[in-house]
Amino acid sequence: MAMDYSEKVIDHFTNPRNVGDMENPSGCGTVGNAVCGDIMRVYLDIDESHVIRDAKFKTFGCGAAIATSSMATVMVKGKTAQEALEVTNRAVMEALGGLPRAKVHCSLLAEEAIHAALWDYAEKSGLTIEGLEKPKADINDD
Ligand code: FES
Repeated sequence: MAMDYSEKVIDHFTNPRNVGDMENPSGCGTVGNAVCGDIMRVYLDIDESHVIRDAKFKTFGCGAAIATSSMATVMVKGKTAQEALEVTNRAVMEALGGLPRAKVHCSLLAEEAIHAALWDYAEKSGLTIEGLEKPKADINDD
């Protein structure tokens, strides 16, 4: 069955922003998607005022995971670690003009990886991020 993707989803899939690695990130989170088994890693560079200067991601996920991570990393940049919690998978899907229902779980990968990276940062910096829950399955290996 063919799926309908918005122009923005196709744009962020074919020309993803913020793909790559980061040396010495302030926070790094790696999560897996229980539905499809795909993996996502997010790196955050955060300054002394807890503002996210840069965000990068790497994924073995599908096109929808790439598009949502691309948009999510764009959206968290310039926000504080606390404000970054507002970048939910719903907010990202809205910014992308929606996702087919079967692909909604893919958008969770970006949110969970960002949360895991924020958790890592919070632990390293001693910052309390209100409303942030310990990631269920952070599979960080570094
Ligand atoms: Fe795995 Fe989309 S199918 S992230």
